[in-house]
Amino acid sequence: MKWFDKAKLGIFMHWGIYGVKGVTESWSFYSGDISHEDYMAQLDGFTAENYDPEKWAELFIKAGAKYTVLTTKHHDGVALWDTKANDLNVVKKTPAKRDVLTPYTNAMRSAGLKVGYYFSHIDWNHPDYACIHPDSTEWWATNKFTAPPEGVPDDFEKWERFLKFHRAQLKELLTEFGKIDLLWFDGVWERTSEQWKFKEMREYIRTLSPETLVNERIGEYGDYACPEQGVPIIPPEGPWELCMTLNDSWGHNENDHNYKSLRQIVKIFTECIGAGGNLLLDIGPKPDGSIREEDEKFLLSLGEWIEPRSEAIYETGRGLPLGHYYGPSTLSKDKKTLYLFYFEKPIDEIQIKGLVTPVKRVTVLGDESKTELNHKRGLGFLAIPGITYIELPEKVTNDVCTVIKVELEDEIELYRGKGEAIKA
Ligand code: GLC
Repeated sequence: MKWFDKAKLGIFMHWGIYGVKGVTESWSFYSGDISHEDYMAQLDGFTAENYDPEKWAELFIKAGAKYTVLTTKHHDGVALWDTKANDLNVVKKTPAKRDVLTPYTNAMRSAGLKVGYYFSHIDWNHPDYACIHPDSTEWWATNKFTAPPEGVPDDFEKWERFLKFHRAQLKELLTEFGKIDLLWFDGVWERTSEQWKFKEMREYIRTLSPETLVNERIGEYGDYACPEQGVPIIPPEGPWELCMTLNDSWGHNENDHNYKSLRQIVKIFTECIGAGGNLLLDIGPKPDGSIREEDEKFLLSLGEWIEPRSEAIYETGRGLPLGHYYGPSTLSKDKKTLYLFYFEKPIDEIQIKGLVTPVKRVTVLGDESKTELNHKRGLGFLAIPGITYIELPEKVTNDVCTVIKVELEDEIELYRGKGEAIKA
């Protein structure tokens, strides 16, 4: 997990035919928002004519990302590479007429980004895949893709055939494109771990590619937790990653202008890294392969904020537990430097409670004047430290988020007790 722990920021890309009409990826035909026929007609609009993955990589590096995850195949079953397992791919069925996965993989790899592949287990277009659908009367029933009721076994032969197909695609992904750093699975919910044979599948992945990390959407055999859209209040104990959209759509949707602000994303990002996680920030490239201007601008401004503050980000781990400071924080690997993320304009001093270790120096990252901030400690008692106060002059604050570097005399020690009466 070494690279993953240090990566902190990844870029997620939902790139598929759904961007042609700007409908929800796969779900739009599942939910009946669009007919299956109209959904599949989008194959004709996936051109990849302005696809320049080197440019993507350059942008992601500037944004401060260390890894990327691309949807090699969403639930609609349309593969971005020339899969031999069936015909539903952008090479055979779209005007792009080429494998777009190889150029992505090579470009990310040569830019020094770790390469991640999203892969949906469920495949709602595969004739051997019986989809669990609440409405079995419409397209699903006519296409006989709905599954038998819960508890009733699948058509065994069909399911076995589907698993073979699934493994064949997985094998292609893990053997035909060089080293893949991360397999990002999705779409587990329609069958049990036993039906998917996840245990055996994890072993298979390990045999084909021992160093590939796997997210948790593979039964209990994943390497890390992956909450979605909401920062967990109680963060997972082990490694984790939050995936989140920049606006309200995973894929490209021209009409979705509901972008989060830079401050909102920086809050989410710092809350993730302060609690030991990564942020996998999603954008939806257009069907022609270009990246929407809004997304590009956003990623550049995120990178501009990160760059002068990177020491608080990449080489750090979980910060102060809740209660010591009003906001996210991170801690250097040697546990001697604390970084506080501060989103307001100061009215009075910033406080750290329960900090036993004396403070050596306090500065602000990115502050060219290198101003040393005044700090003092209130009266403590025995092992119970007084409150640490830091004065933050407004002139050294940043409009997005100010990062305060608190250098300590020693490894951090915190008091987390209930307090006690002064007896002597
Ligand atoms: C949700 C969406 C799915 C998307 C995924 C990313 O599960 O339904 O379409 O790919 O999030 O995590």
